[in-house]
Amino acid sequence: QILPRLYHENVIDHYNNPRNVGSFDKNDPNVGTGLVGAPACGDVMKLQIKIDEKSGKIMDACFKTFGCGSAIASSSVATEWVKGKSTEEVLTIKNTEIAKHLSLPPVKLHCSMLAEDAIKAAVKDVEAKRAKLNGSEAAPA
Ligand code: FES
Ligand code: FES
Repeated sequence: QILPRLYHENVIDHYNNPRNVGSFDKNDPNVGTGLVGAPACGDVMKLQIKIDEKSGKIMDACFKTFGCGSAIASSSVATEWVKGKSTEEVLTIKNTEIAKHLSLPPVKLHCSMLAEDAIKAAVKDVEAKRAKLNGSEAAPA
């Protein structure tokens, strides 16, 4: 390898054809919204999950990201990976796995961190909402 290619084909693919761009109604009790920012560069990512009331699994996910190509690609991958999983399962998704999938260079690791943080924030949000609906207190973070 003479020169590392700047961006892996998976980044280009997710950047050119981002999956699940959009928004859900954040007041829907089955929707969790994670809004996170990267202090390093000012980029912002919003990731939302929609929970199936019966199974408790994530049936849909979407995102809007104002940021670099790596951040957009990371959010796109994250929305694909959370679908069909339980909230417990998605909490184990690591930014390093996303970075690996996209072959992000070290300087772009914080972009994938945004995606991990956004997933966690979205889960926290929907769990707090659902706990409220069930008349119990949200579990402390
Ligand atoms: Fe430019 Fe993130 S630093 S988009
Ligand atoms: Fe900041 Fe990518 S450069 S999120």
